[in-house]
Amino acid sequence: MTIETIDGVRGDVYTRRWVVETILTLTGFTSDRDLADLTIVEPSAGDGAFLGPIVERLLESVRLHGRPVSDLSGSLVAYELYEDAATQARQILRTLLTEGGVEDGQARELAQQWVRTADYLLDEQEVVADFVVGNPPYIRLEDIDNEVGAAYRTRWWTMTARADIYVGFIEKALKSLRTGGRLGFIVADRWMKNQYGAKLRELVSTGGYAMEQVWTMHDVDAFVAPVSAYPAITVIRKGEQDAAVVIDTTSDFGEASAAETTSWAIGAEAGERFETRGAQGAVLDTWFTEASSWPNGTPESLKLIAHLNQYQGLRPIHDPSHGTTVTIGIATGADKIFITKNSDLVEEDRLVPLAKSRDISTGTLNWGGTYLVDPWAERGRLVDLSKYPRLRSYFESHHADLAKRHTAKRDLSRYYKTIDPMHHDRIKRAKLLFTDMRTQLTPVLEPGGVYPHHNLYYVISDVWDLEVLGGLMMTQMAQEYLAAHTVKMRGGTLRAQAQYLKRIPVPSPREIPNAAATALRQAFRDGDRVEATRVARPLYGLSAKEWDWVGQISG
Ligand SMILES: C[S@@+](CC[C@H](N)C(=O)[O-])C[C@H]1O[C@@H](n2cnc3c(N)ncnc32)[C@H](O)[C@@H]1O
Repeated sequence: MTIETIDGVRGDVYTRRWVVETILTLTGFTSDRDLADLTIVEPSAGDGAFLGPIVERLLESVRLHGRPVSDLSGSLVAYELYEDAATQARQILRTLLTEGGVEDGQARELAQQWVRTADYLLDEQEVVADFVVGNPPYIRLEDIDNEVGAAYRTRWWTMTARADIYVGFIEKALKSLRTGGRLGFIVADRWMKNQYGAKLRELVSTGGYAMEQVWTMHDVDAFVAPVSAYPAITVIRKGEQDAAVVIDTTSDFGEASAAETTSWAIGAEAGERFETRGAQGAVLDTWFTEASSWPNGTPESLKLIAHLNQYQGLRPIHDPSHGTTVTIGIATGADKIFITKNSDLVEEDRLVPLAKSRDISTGTLNWGGTYLVDPWAERGRLVDLSKYPRLRSYFESHHADLAKRHTAKRDLSRYYKTIDPMHHDRIKRAKLLFTDMRTQLTPVLEPGGVYPHHNLYYVISDVWDLEVLGGLMMTQMAQEYLAAHTVKMRGGTLRAQAQYLKRIPVPSPREIPNAAATALRQAFRDGDRVEATRVARPLYGLSAKEWDWVGQISG
């Protein structure tokens, strides 16, 4: 099997001791507890980076609780795929035990019982765990022998084709937990954001698990060899979700900061914030339940998103049942043919003024004089070309190019359709326009008369004064919501995907007092984001105290 990126050949980059100690403490695996009655699982032991500290804590626990070492035989279950690493791990444990006063024969036997040479994902023996800790291998499924990959996939439903095998490790670990038990992994955080993590997010969100700690450690020196795998310390409990600690770190984060952060994180209560060398943290009241996407960002922005998700009275901006829609502009499949600057190209009523993204690049609409050659009669029906001879001859002159488009192939009699139909009733309606890529969400008012091209999104509404809504779209709340749910491109450009643009939370227009509406309208006209945010703050239930931490979010 070939193994991707970080781990040499086997997915075997070993974890630094302080990271191991941090994870053990965060999961509650501490020697003051009577650990002999509990079971800890290390699913991918390597040569024992976790096993050493685990056994030290086990020995200390039996000493403190006056129990014989033989009581520990069922307390630890470790797996390692490769015999040489497993042998090395057993040897290390044996030495550790004898140094701790255990007779060598017993030490050898315990080490033998504890460390299995086996594939964690395929091992049949059921182990109910109080703790599962480790640093699972990071190997793309497609880089694994087909048969083995297929066997993994049949057993672990979260492992989709493009998944990394650590996804299966998390699934199995979660499913093995006793109620109240905890998983503590240092593992890539990609599953929390990427498509291949969707089923795992669903399992966590709906399966009775609680995200307790997420410590993002992308630039931290956490392993004995450099890695490029976006690691995060992740602690998940089997039980009901309540507060969740989020920590963001820089390369300055290390052993000393970790100890301080750990003691804060264990006792921290909802609403608290924390800062130390190389780390900042916050406690969210709850985690994000929607499996489709978990937001990403600094602890402050996650805290804001959690607040927006919970605050009563906010609804997604796209709300057709209440008269507001967010739509993407028209796609043609052949812009060179359907878009023109020639106002005399075909019959006059077949040319619709088109708004392109460059028309709003200055923050106001400056129509660039382009038209869409419009093939549509009323919704869903194409015009009868016999009634439009110039249009017909224009389309016929481009027949070959139009007919080879995917959208035309299904019914060649409709070869002159654009991909999307035209909604003529929307041309004259006022709209708020947005480009799909911009460092900041910048709504532009279009009073009616143009139709948006497909790289623009537009809002039309029966209930909103669009300038007031425009003011809300300019606030830091809207900005952070979008930023936390979208992929940041190089240079900080946001890709405002429609699904997230549609979900930006806004208060009900009826609930906005007149004075606030007037101020928001003015802030929109002035392009004043700070003022828009200030005015909107109470509408989003953000008190002065909460505003403190929102204010700390850096652009
Ligand atoms: C990233 S290393 C971590 C080792 C150790 N836990 C640590 O933290 O230093 C992952 C280990 O998993 C082992 N491994 C890979 N696939 C495995 C599997 N399917 N079952 C059990 N172990 C596996 C590798 O050989 C490697 O030693």
